[in-house]
Amino acid sequence: MLKGAIIGFGKIARSSHMDAYKNDSFNGEVEITSAIEPNPNNFQISQKEFPAIRFYHSLEELLDNEAIDFVDITCPPQYHFEMLEKCIAKGLNILCEKPFTLNLKEAEIIREKLLNSSIVFMPCHQYKYSPIWCEFKSFIDSQEDFCRPLLQFNVFRTQADPGLETLSDKWRKASIDTGGGILVDTGIHYLYLVNWMLGNPVRIMSNLTTLQHLDYNCEDTAIIVLESPKGAAQITVTWAADKRYNDAKLVCKNGSIYYEGGTKLLKSSSAGIEEIPVPDASDKKNYALQYVSMFRRFFDAVKNNQQNINWIDEAYQSILLLNKCYESSNSNNR
Ligand SMILES: NC(=O)c1ccc[n+]([C@@H]2O[C@H](COP(=O)([O-])OP(=O)(O)OC[C@H]3O[C@@H](n4cnc5c(N)ncnc54)[C@H](O)[C@@H]3O)[C@@H](O)[C@H]2O)c1
Repeated sequence: MLKGAIIGFGKIARSSHMDAYKNDSFNGEVEITSAIEPNPNNFQISQKEFPAIRFYHSLEELLDNEAIDFVDITCPPQYHFEMLEKCIAKGLNILCEKPFTLNLKEAEIIREKLLNSSIVFMPCHQYKYSPIWCEFKSFIDSQEDFCRPLLQFNVFRTQADPGLETLSDKWRKASIDTGGGILVDTGIHYLYLVNWMLGNPVRIMSNLTTLQHLDYNCEDTAIIVLESPKGAAQITVTWAADKRYNDAKLVCKNGSIYYEGGTKLLKSSSAGIEEIPVPDASDKKNYALQYVSMFRRFFDAVKNNQQNINWIDEAYQSILLLNKCYESSNSNNR
């Protein structure tokens, strides 16, 4: 039985992560035995709602009392570096929510430490395990090299995710120096997807701006254009919309895939138009299933004591891409 601890028992931990751990496929194999929650109010509520988990106020207190095989870092981004350093020093296997770290300097330090260890580390880039994005990826992979696709992602929201309602720390609206902003919160998912589908971008142009939420201390909108040897992509993410909406399109000379939310993809090719059933991306149950698929790979690697360098590199690359987006936007505004 693998025993784990959750670091930061907030919204994503108590929803998608805990839902995934409860999946039958982990029964008798993985157990969350402990957690850290520094907020006194959330500490009490969590203890009542999750009586099987032993709660602590700090990582030090937890490590003094618990024997664990892995940690799952789900605290706000500004604490990831500190937690990663301490867990690496203890030789613990690590799952870490995005963004891996706050900036490139932190990402470089953690990457070196991980590569000099045998720790199994995986970033929570769960979109890679969504059947929707796997369809997009296999469509691209099936094309000849000369057929360079154009990918387009639109993600519209009305405001920043408030996180756990009972917490007053609304870190998503804070300055980008502490992990705020829609680029790092939502845009990062699409940056690692583009990297995965099209390979490392060689050119990046980005514009970060505030269209609506002047009370936020960060951008509420990001428009990014990326070009890789394999194709090009455009990502538009905003918190300034009138309603929630998502779509994604992939077009190339040989066909296309359109996804406009819901339970189907439309795929066109020389064979005709095909409707492919997919799990609804905004259904909470399906969201947790992406975590189940991702966790499965992590636990297999932990059981086989097999560090995956690609996961470390993927985490590092995601911060490198974020950094390039900030640089591009800053240089446009000079
Ligand atoms: N992969 C995804 O799709 C996805 C979705 C949502 C959130 N996230 C990520 O998960 C993380 C948490 O997001 P959330 O929405 O759950 O936020 P949240 O604010 O709801 O929860 C964060 C929790 O961490 C606790 N915390 C604060 N400081 C801490 C510290 N120093 N040590 C330990 N715990 C601490 C808070 O008290 C809170 O309970 C962020 O990195 C976020 O980007 C990822």
